[in-house]
Amino acid sequence: MAKFNLSFVQGLKLAEKAALVSGKNFWFTAGNADKNIPKIMVTDGPSGLRKQADDADALGLNQSVQAISFPSSALTASSFNTNMLYQLGQHLGEAAKAEQVSVLLGPGVNIKRSPLAGRNFEYFSEDPYLSGEMGAAYVNGVQQQGVGVSVKHFAANNRESQRFTSSSNIDERTLREVYLAAFEKIVKTSQPATLMCSYNAINGVLSSQNYRLLTQILRHEWGFTGLVMSDWGAVADNIAALKAGLDLEMPGNGDYSVKQIIAAVKSGELEESVLDTAVLRVLQLVEKYHIETTSGEYDKEEQHAFARQMAADSMVLLKNEQQVLPLKATDKVAIIGELAQKPRYQGGGSSHVNPYKLVTPLAAAQASQQDINYAAGYHIDQSQADEQLVASALIAAKASDKVVVFAGVPERDESEGFDKTTIDLPENQTDLINQLATVNKNIIVVLQNGSAITMPWQDKVAGIVETYLAGEAVGEATWDILTGAVNPSGKLAETFPIRLSDTPTYGTFAVSRREENYHEGIFVGYRYYDVKDRDVNYPFGHGLSYTSFKYDDLVIDSDSQKVQVTFNVTNTGDLAGQEAVQLYVNNLASDVETPVNALQAFEKVTLAPGETKQIQLVLGRRQFAWYDVKRQAWTVDNGDYVINIGSSSRDIRLSQHVAVKLGANISQPITSETYISEVINRTDLRPAIEESGLSESLDMIANVEDNQELLANMPMRAVVMLGADIEQLNKFLALVNK
Ligand code: BGC
Repeated sequence: MAKFNLSFVQGLKLAEKAALVSGKNFWFTAGNADKNIPKIMVTDGPSGLRKQADDADALGLNQSVQAISFPSSALTASSFNTNMLYQLGQHLGEAAKAEQVSVLLGPGVNIKRSPLAGRNFEYFSEDPYLSGEMGAAYVNGVQQQGVGVSVKHFAANNRESQRFTSSSNIDERTLREVYLAAFEKIVKTSQPATLMCSYNAINGVLSSQNYRLLTQILRHEWGFTGLVMSDWGAVADNIAALKAGLDLEMPGNGDYSVKQIIAAVKSGELEESVLDTAVLRVLQLVEKYHIETTSGEYDKEEQHAFARQMAADSMVLLKNEQQVLPLKATDKVAIIGELAQKPRYQGGGSSHVNPYKLVTPLAAAQASQQDINYAAGYHIDQSQADEQLVASALIAAKASDKVVVFAGVPERDESEGFDKTTIDLPENQTDLINQLATVNKNIIVVLQNGSAITMPWQDKVAGIVETYLAGEAVGEATWDILTGAVNPSGKLAETFPIRLSDTPTYGTFAVSRREENYHEGIFVGYRYYDVKDRDVNYPFGHGLSYTSFKYDDLVIDSDSQKVQVTFNVTNTGDLAGQEAVQLYVNNLASDVETPVNALQAFEKVTLAPGETKQIQLVLGRRQFAWYDVKRQAWTVDNGDYVINIGSSSRDIRLSQHVAVKLGANISQPITSETYISEVINRTDLRPAIEESGLSESLDMIANVEDNQELLANMPMRAVVMLGADIEQLNKFLALVNK
């Protein structure tokens, strides 16, 4: 292959260059046989390969080659296990390489801002730190196999309704701290081959032609050297897009795009050097990731086994009263719900995979030694109850020791391309659970859904297992958890609210066709429920185990480089288990709104019964920083912070204050707007107070008993109302700012 560099690019004809920056078709970049430039294939998506041979579409409608359907990101994030995400990436990369796919279109790292968002299943979390860590590990795994990724959808793609045009209106601090943070982390630590720009606009400017986003922030600030491609059909104006820093338009607009570019260069509207840069990035991608030949083979059985392990290690045991789980070998179990037989195990849309080997929960149960009895209970494609199915389910439930009800959100209600209108389960399922609870007290609900749901029945059931969309090994993994072959260790990567009206975006989400206003600012997910002190069904980070863990011996060391946190975790039960320990930071030092608790580190630890392990978590500057819009910089304030160590965001086991010294000590200038309270007690300012003659007025304020707060709550310019004169104030300001 030719060595592609700038002089090679400059030697191409204008038409040849123009042809290279838009895709050849749905899944291929444009090649050029004369110039020895091969085409490369790109393919969805985050949870498995969707390589289409013919009849291409971006919506998952047409068949693709068989591939392993791995758990969707909503579930994989619940593993809280970066090592596992890395392995997932490796498996996906291996499959892509075998299928001659150069770039895998994933992971999706958008933030779950509303549980109504149709594509939540495909994203990791409501938390930017967790999303960034999971995404970076996934990217490293794929790229370790020599396959590129496309991290998507850059950025603020948080709803599906009118996703091609809607403007996400966000203040700068929120954008940086919540919506860009995961992308920033991945770009800076994992050098992804490509990013995919989102369909939506941000503050009125389409992402595909957003110079600030694609060039100033992504390249100038973060140092991204890879390629930016468009989401499929996200380009409205390909010249504006090239100027903004978009390199590759997908799926390409054929001759039309090429003609536009040629005309724009000829008229001087588009500088040819801008086009050259985009062409060079396309060629560098092709050079690095082109796959010459391939066997087409990989070990699908091994990949299926990994899909099973990953799903089981990520499923979340939400509730387990009277140790109803794990099932005992002697339990007679009623398995109820059509989802046991026709599981929902993957999301709809572009991430839809043609599975290699789907194992349903019913099949897994039937293959076991357990005494089981199945009844469908409801039709998944209907919301109305079928009385006959209900009656048979009740008979089965009565005759059993325990009842496992499979419930979930039908695919018709949850997919890429549209948002949901409810987070309730269909009525026939809710009614069935309520009725079953009247005939058997050992009800265990197994959930299959893409994102948080309500559970009005939860007090009536003994156990709840959240399996999300668990991939093709859904049956085996679910059965592993139910029987205790695998001890559950997943933790929620999103909050489960009590009702939709409790959620941060209630009443505003997807209301306007044109725009989405991010009124809640930085208070997304648990940050919102915590600051409002609102009850939730299950908090962020929650997940039970069949064993128990004790936390102790917290020690924190703080210096000007880092904060180092150590503590012990002990398995106090008699089963081996894994615990995802979580570290939250509570900032008491800064004079700006900050979350009550923000996840800033986590680790998954495996412990034998009775075993103790010491955990060490090291926090850097960024873990304490907030984005200062005025200075356009991440800022750390020195001072008092609380380090909270928990088994969930609302199950804090250890807590300690720490004096953080990582800040830059930026001193604020003293002006006539500075508050008297910030001046009055500073001994370093005392000489200037004396010399300027302000001491009499300020001492008077300091000595007034009743109105001290009122007076101290006035700016320095108000001292003239308290007896000082303006010359004294000016002299003071001149002295302190000398
Ligand atoms: C989706 C992308 C996907 C692309 C190609 C788009 O509709 O938003 O996530 O990668 O199609 O299928």
